[in-house]
Amino acid sequence: MSEPIISVDGLSVRFPVGRSGFWGGKQRLLHAVDGVSFDVARGEVLGLVGESGSGKSTTGRAILRRVDASEGTIRFKGEDITHKTGEEVRRLRRHMQLVFQDPYGSLNPRQSVLEIVAEPLLVHGMIDRISDARDQVVEFLDLVGMPPDAVDRHPHAFSGGQRQRIGIARALALRPDFIVADEPVSALDVSIQAQIVNLMQELKDELGLTYLFIAHDLSVVRHISNRIAIMYAGRLVEIADRDAVYETPMHPYTKALLSAVPIPDPAVEKQRQRIVVQGEIPDPVDPPPGCRFASRCAYRQDRCVEESPELRDVDGQQVACHFAEQIAAGDLVAR
Ligand SMILES: Nc1ncnc2c1ncn2[C@@H]1O[C@H](COP(=O)(O)OP(=O)(O)OP(=O)(O)O)[C@@H](O)[C@H]1O
Ligand SMILES: [Mg+2]
Repeated sequence: MSEPIISVDGLSVRFPVGRSGFWGGKQRLLHAVDGVSFDVARGEVLGLVGESGSGKSTTGRAILRRVDASEGTIRFKGEDITHKTGEEVRRLRRHMQLVFQDPYGSLNPRQSVLEIVAEPLLVHGMIDRISDARDQVVEFLDLVGMPPDAVDRHPHAFSGGQRQRIGIARALALRPDFIVADEPVSALDVSIQAQIVNLMQELKDELGLTYLFIAHDLSVVRHISNRIAIMYAGRLVEIADRDAVYETPMHPYTKALLSAVPIPDPAVEKQRQRIVVQGEIPDPVDPPPGCRFASRCAYRQDRCVEESPELRDVDGQQVACHFAEQIAAGDLVAR
């Protein structure tokens, strides 16, 4: 296999969140991401899925060097970029871009579409004046399915889906290889979501892109992902080929997430059993020593509370659960 475009090894990100006690006690740290490792192969789409606060955005931002890693290594095309700063990060940005969740908040309402899409080119010294990029911007707009006369209009003239197309055009302007798409359709109407996901799929094929595609549920990433990584409370709990995740989910949390995905066949859908996870999410400032999911897991055993499970290979899937085999074999029954 060729070298992965992105390689994340043991990534942890902790945020200082004030001190304990009144008079300058110990610095408290919020464990947003904890010991996460994965690769993204060239041309691949890795879906990164988990509920709110699980650390998906922080993982994506760490890869793009928008937030510092506290531990671990991030490699881009084999080069260690973990501690790159300043001009080096600026140069990396040409190759790695972010598509934002919120197409309303992420586009400057005072800029024209021409300015929005051409700005990265100006910042990176690839043009001298915004107006020089007019033809290029029209081409990028065409690529994302927007008419040429959009160039002189402002974001408010467009719908959410159209704004996200503009956001994608902006991310593509520097012709990056790798894109972190951070919930690019979550803010859009369900009817529009598939259009934008399809557009991203087409652009990926046409331009040879690689994506880390973040979502909070498993329905959005199904068609576009080659592999899917599931995060829970800062940790990776499962990572496997797309079909394996949907057909033989191993981690109890993956099973629960999957049970929330509607099934297109109405007869099957009627019989879908929703697994409702109850219980508290662990405090990210004081994470428990055992499995982060233990407080909500229907299969919890004593060992789960005592010992944190590492990701390991179980039947070709990577899963962080002490009892994955027993659960798969039906030897352990959900409470
Ligand atoms: N700059 C920051 N300072 C302090 N805490 C932060 C910061 N950024 C994120 N966090 C915390 O880190 C944890 C992970 O946040 P993150 O935004 O990565 O989650 P997420 O999976 O993207 O969630 P969502 O689905 O809501 O976008 C959360 O507890 C969040 O409150
Ligand atoms: Mg997020």
